[in-house]
Amino acid sequence: MSDGTLLINGTTHPFKPGQTILEVAEEAGIAIPTLCHLKGTTPTGACRLCVVEVKGARNLLASCSTPAENGMEVTTDSPTVMSSRKMTLELLLSSGNHDCITSGAGTDARELFNARAEAEGHSEHLCPSWGDCKLQEYALAYGATGTAYPRSKPTYPPELKNPMIIRDFSRCILCGRCVQACNEVQVNEAISYGYRGSESKIVALGDLPLGQSACVFCGECVQVCPTGALVDKKSKGIWRPWDVETIRTTCPYCGVGCQQILHVKEGRIVKITGDEEGLPNKGRLCVKGRFGYDFIYSDERLTTPLIRENGEFREASWDEALDLVADKLKGIIAESGPDAIAGVSCARSLNEDSYQMQKLFRGVFKTNNIDHCART
Ligand code: SF4
Ligand code: SF4
Ligand code: SF4
Ligand code: FES
Repeated sequence: MSDGTLLINGTTHPFKPGQTILEVAEEAGIAIPTLCHLKGTTPTGACRLCVVEVKGARNLLASCSTPAENGMEVTTDSPTVMSSRKMTLELLLSSGNHDCITSGAGTDARELFNARAEAEGHSEHLCPSWGDCKLQEYALAYGATGTAYPRSKPTYPPELKNPMIIRDFSRCILCGRCVQACNEVQVNEAISYGYRGSESKIVALGDLPLGQSACVFCGECVQVCPTGALVDKKSKGIWRPWDVETIRTTCPYCGVGCQQILHVKEGRIVKITGDEEGLPNKGRLCVKGRFGYDFIYSDERLTTPLIRENGEFREASWDEALDLVADKLKGIIAESGPDAIAGVSCARSLNEDSYQMQKLFRGVFKTNNIDHCART
């Protein structure tokens, strides 16, 4: 149902009740840059990069938090808008340790940027998000050089001791996406805004390291952070977007079946992210799905069935192992009846496998002693 129409850059577009200017523009394929906006959460209007001109308004308006109104006349790319966005980017670049290649490069330097990215991409001195940073991307697009204002000195040292996550406050632009992701998307409520003015910082439980807070290391904040302020510790220095192949797959850990993207380099997974478009998780992952992939390469991983004999395990074929299990089950049923056995289906298996297991117990073994570990 349409609630009316508005003009964007001279063209009429319908909108639905409750839609913002940004949402209408996105549906119409009109690009507006955003840094703090996180789809599906309450708009904060923190970064002011998405500003547009609205006829009759005294100031530029943040399109992510301004509701569309009938008859509105919006311009998304006027010289005033473009210059305001460039100034915002300059201020953000000067507000922290944004020492990436963007500094000193204009929009006409994209080729040079790409060439240097290829050559220097793995230097450990470069920002880990170099090449995967929305601030850097917009700075290039708008010709912001990071030299318009004096660069402020970092207030806080990086927090390196957490498992899985590096927090580099010097690269934080206080966009608040991590807070939205933690509180509204994952509903873990582990982080919030702390301190004031130039001391402002994203804090966990009165400013403790994440490991001592309510953080469950789901990594959602890392996934949504638009800069190098939150970094996946395991992939730092190994992963760059241009040298991995991405493969969409289903998380192997439980029956929820989250859709994840494997970032594969030279045949090995070096990072996992949630698939923003995939159901049921829409980009969310838990700590296991996002960070727990080392087991694949573990030397201790079992690759064949093991049969215990005289207190020792020996390797066996699948046929031998399955025959042994079948014989034992048959023996118990013959001796003590079907209720002498019980089965617990694994939450890591598919729903279909669990269904078949209860059929096996009820239909074949004739017992109702069947359960599923997720229920415990
Ligand atoms: S966070 Fe982005 S803009 Fe800042 S140094 Fe890293 S790549 Fe550059
Ligand atoms: S890892 Fe998850 S729980 Fe921890 S701060 Fe980030 S979003 Fe919140
Ligand atoms: S840590 Fe990242 S997502 Fe969070 S406020 Fe800083 S820049 Fe934004
Ligand atoms: S994206 Fe709208 S204010 Fe940041």
